[in-house]
Amino acid sequence: MYTPQDEILLARSAQELVQSPTEATPDTAALEVLKKVLNYLDWKYYVQDDPVLADQEYDKLFKLLKAIEGAHPELISPDSPTQRVAKGLNASFATVAHYVPMLSLENSYNADDLREWDRKCKVFVGKDNISYTVEPKYDGAGISLYYEDNQLQRAATRGDGVFGDDITVNARQIKSIPLTANLSGKGVQSIEIRGEVIIKKNVFTAINEKRIAAGLSVLANPRNAASGTLRIQDPAEVAKRGLHAVLYNISYHTNQHQQEDDQVLHSHYSALQWLDQLGFATPVKDMLRTDSIDAVIAHCEAFEARRDELPFEIDGMVVKVDLLADQETMGQTSHHPRWAMAYKFKARQATSKLQKVEFQVGRTGNIGPVAKIAPVHIGGVTVGSVSLFNEDVIREKDLMIGDTVLVERAGDVIPYIVKSLPELRDGTEEIIVFPSHCPVCNDELVKTEGEVAWRCVNINCSAQVVERLIHFASKDAMDIRNLGDANIKRFFESGLLKGIQDIYRLDFETISTFNKFGAKSIDNLKTAIENSKQQALHRLIYGLGIRYVGETTAKTLAKAVTDIREFKDWNEERLCSLEDIGPKVAQSIVEFFSNEDNIHLLEELDTLGINLKNTHQSAADTEGAFSGKTFLFTGSLSQFKRNNAEEKVESLGGKILSGVSSKLNYLVVGADAGSKLEKAKKLGTVNILNEEDFIKLLGNNGIIL
Ligand code: IVH
Repeated sequence: MYTPQDEILLARSAQELVQSPTEATPDTAALEVLKKVLNYLDWKYYVQDDPVLADQEYDKLFKLLKAIEGAHPELISPDSPTQRVAKGLNASFATVAHYVPMLSLENSYNADDLREWDRKCKVFVGKDNISYTVEPKYDGAGISLYYEDNQLQRAATRGDGVFGDDITVNARQIKSIPLTANLSGKGVQSIEIRGEVIIKKNVFTAINEKRIAAGLSVLANPRNAASGTLRIQDPAEVAKRGLHAVLYNISYHTNQHQQEDDQVLHSHYSALQWLDQLGFATPVKDMLRTDSIDAVIAHCEAFEARRDELPFEIDGMVVKVDLLADQETMGQTSHHPRWAMAYKFKARQATSKLQKVEFQVGRTGNIGPVAKIAPVHIGGVTVGSVSLFNEDVIREKDLMIGDTVLVERAGDVIPYIVKSLPELRDGTEEIIVFPSHCPVCNDELVKTEGEVAWRCVNINCSAQVVERLIHFASKDAMDIRNLGDANIKRFFESGLLKGIQDIYRLDFETISTFNKFGAKSIDNLKTAIENSKQQALHRLIYGLGIRYVGETTAKTLAKAVTDIREFKDWNEERLCSLEDIGPKVAQSIVEFFSNEDNIHLLEELDTLGINLKNTHQSAADTEGAFSGKTFLFTGSLSQFKRNNAEEKVESLGGKILSGVSSKLNYLVVGADAGSKLEKAKKLGTVNILNEEDFIKLLGNNGIIL
């Protein structure tokens, strides 16, 4: 959709606009440029995963556009990036008929099934050579998009395949769905495009972390989360969920130029390439075209082996006959097209018996029920414990002790109970009784209105104290490596650790009398504790375990002060002026810093030599082995967290860039790297490192990740 020249021009215009003063001039030519630039930035960010500007710079341009349109509403056009922002919805969605019914796919489960289908295809088409495509089978919610005159007119859910819900307002929140596309460039006047709305694994995990911290119910898996989100009646909430849409089929279109059709729409592969060029997200990068059924099978098996490494969930692959003329010859049954076949991966579900439920106390006092099930193997992992999250889950899923339950493990998402099978009950099952008192300190549990979690509000409850200590020492907080969960529990039980400050005055003489504590492990522990004193401020803030303050908020807070104790004088209003801090988070921060015990803790930590100051210099100021060097990480990294690695680079004086350009020195590549890697290869000036190379490079400079 954008030629390399277009890209250079648009990226330059973006830079110029960022540099220029933000006056809201109603100059229509300038307005058009601004809209084009923002649409381009959205495409780079959401489809190509390759941002051109920093977030604040993007926000500046977006606000400018809003200001112009605010002053001149007559200039608002439906393709304006501001028009993704919805204006509210009716109580329920309208039902709409699909232009072409949305069929499902026939399933195959092994190589033999695919060979048999290959044989049938050849008989049907009457050829002994057929070209196939193979692409991922995305595990999300089916969607149909209808464009007319280059504009997105309608989006609908699959529904029953014939009728679906009109969810256009929500689809407009999905930034990888173009609001306009140059379909008429190939003579296409109207078109219905099919695809899948998904939530990437990392986005899904982040959503649930936030929901747990806020006391809300968790979303079971990315598939349910995607389909549930499409039906939310609040488009602003939909926008927050980070949905992504991949388009994989053109089901209907009208074209004024037959010859263009012959060129582009003669095969599935070229049709998807065309959509990709127009700015849609498609499977082309992961697709194979071949006329060998052996190669089809190998591609399916290769993806099954890599399933856990992919950034999104797939439950199989889809093999399609490539030539549309052949597809037409084969036609369809009332349920599925004959020209496509799903290759389903091995099930990640198993049934087991629910033996008992334990109730665990979390860091913030939330009571988490955990189902103990008879251990079962699911996709290579033995599952014996499954979190039930909260009481509502137990009731909604109608769970009883002794029930047979269906358990699913979706990728690296934690296992969960899909449902119970009440039809298998024999009358010996028992109701699960949720405790009224804390299973550890016996204080009465409370439930705040609007929350689903029961909580123990006794902050001295020993379970909470231990969990808080574990959190403080954890990898993403103060990172005290040798003080693991087991040691913390042991030190707590023997009275050596009562609170965070005790970590820094541990009695090593007593510890040396403990089993398995030799001179070496004591030395390691001492060094780890000593090193943690100089951790960056945001790690301390995160480690304190202030409710609703995750890693990102901790970073925002750390940047806003020179000493953490300044927050004593901050009120909610001032906190809310910081990025991404809302009233609820602000209130929790104010509560924390107005508690005398917490202030006393900070004073003690100061006396003990723990860094309470924002000493984190900007990258440009830090001198080190990476001074003047630029880095970028791409793809899913398996051996370390991107955040940590970026911090290490900065601590050595290096700088993190947001995109690949001639200014980039090192690109560190994880699994499934996409356009950034390709671009770096094309440039030829970037050093491309895999995770091991990067770890070695740090090691050479005395840094361990
Ligand atoms: S093609 C007429 N391709 O799987 C053919 N479907 O179990 C339409 N799905 O209803 C389907 N990834 O929602 C196709 N690459 C892919 C797919 C895909 C996921 C979904 C789709 C379909 C369901 C069938």
